[in-house]
Amino acid sequence: MAHWLVTGGCGFIGSHLCDALTARGDTVTILDDMSTGKRENAPAEAEVVEGDVADAALVRRLMEKADGCFHLAAVASVQRCTEEWVTSHRTNLTGTITVFDAARQAGGRPVIYASSAAVYGDNPDVPLDEDARTRPLSAYGADKLGCELHGRVAHGVHGVPNTGFRFFNVFGPRQDPKSPYSGVIAIFTDRIRAGQGITIFGNGEQVRDFVYVGDVVRHLLAAMDAGGGEGAVFNVCTGRKTSVLDLANTIAELSDAEADITFAEPRAGDIRTSLGDPAKANAAFNVPAETDFRSGLRLTLESH
Ligand SMILES: NC(=O)c1ccc[n+]([C@@H]2O[C@H](COP(=O)([O-])OP(=O)(O)OC[C@H]3O[C@@H](n4cnc5c(N)ncnc54)[C@H](O)[C@@H]3O)[C@@H](O)[C@H]2O)c1
Repeated sequence: MAHWLVTGGCGFIGSHLCDALTARGDTVTILDDMSTGKRENAPAEAEVVEGDVADAALVRRLMEKADGCFHLAAVASVQRCTEEWVTSHRTNLTGTITVFDAARQAGGRPVIYASSAAVYGDNPDVPLDEDARTRPLSAYGADKLGCELHGRVAHGVHGVPNTGFRFFNVFGPRQDPKSPYSGVIAIFTDRIRAGQGITIFGNGEQVRDFVYVGDVVRHLLAAMDAGGGEGAVFNVCTGRKTSVLDLANTIAELSDAEADITFAEPRAGDIRTSLGDPAKANAAFNVPAETDFRSGLRLTLESH
């Protein structure tokens, strides 16, 4: 039986991971500052420590008791990272280095951590594979790219096994309705079910790669079970396009309602197409995303 430290385990993705770990009988210690996470998201079996992922002494103490760490804690809101540039940097990059350093001091514990498709910025050369140009457009994306660079250092210089995952638009039960990745699902669902109109900026042909949270968890587990890795990064995506218009129509159909859509001018800075290539992750871990968008959306709407 293994014991894992999960940072951000009371958040959306982290709590699903903790469910899977405790369901297979593993011991879980969560470190979360509850800034967006909720204690009730965590499985009852998990120990929850409230604290900061950039608190080196605390992370070191927790890491020593664990066999490895899933590091998901972050300020995941691009908007908040813009407004709170320095404090979000402390969590998003210093926090990650703190985790790697604690793993090093504990003798090289494996670390599986969350990066983001935000490292690619607005790269139209889709589908994006891991060798595509990275040019983040936000403090959030810049810090995630920094995490990846330090992941290489952690392995190459300090011998810490690690793998980074560039999640695309993760969706599923417990997602934050304000999330920049999938918040649009909650907004459309609430309005369509209430018989209110929705506004789509642009022509609705903007494309996203929505990946179901259960498939994300399978990637995290597979990477840890494979020993932690050598500092490489992988996309976690489906390679399938969903347009914003498809999204609105599918939500309406699953909710037995009409979508009353108004089209407005495109917003400055909106990324038109975000689509990943899952081939590298599929070859390495053999856990391709298997939940199709419609089924995942049904599960999400049921829980909403
Ligand atoms: N949801 C997505 O589509 C998506 C896409 C790309 C990357 N990611 C990344 O995946 C990870 C999980 O994201 P999520 O969607 O579950 O977000 P979330 O906000 O639900 O989870 C993040 C968790 O980290 C905790 N946290 C924040 N700052 C902390 C700190 N200083 N110390 C300790 N805990 C802290 C929060 O309270 C929360 O529980 C993040 O690293 C995020 O950047 C998510």
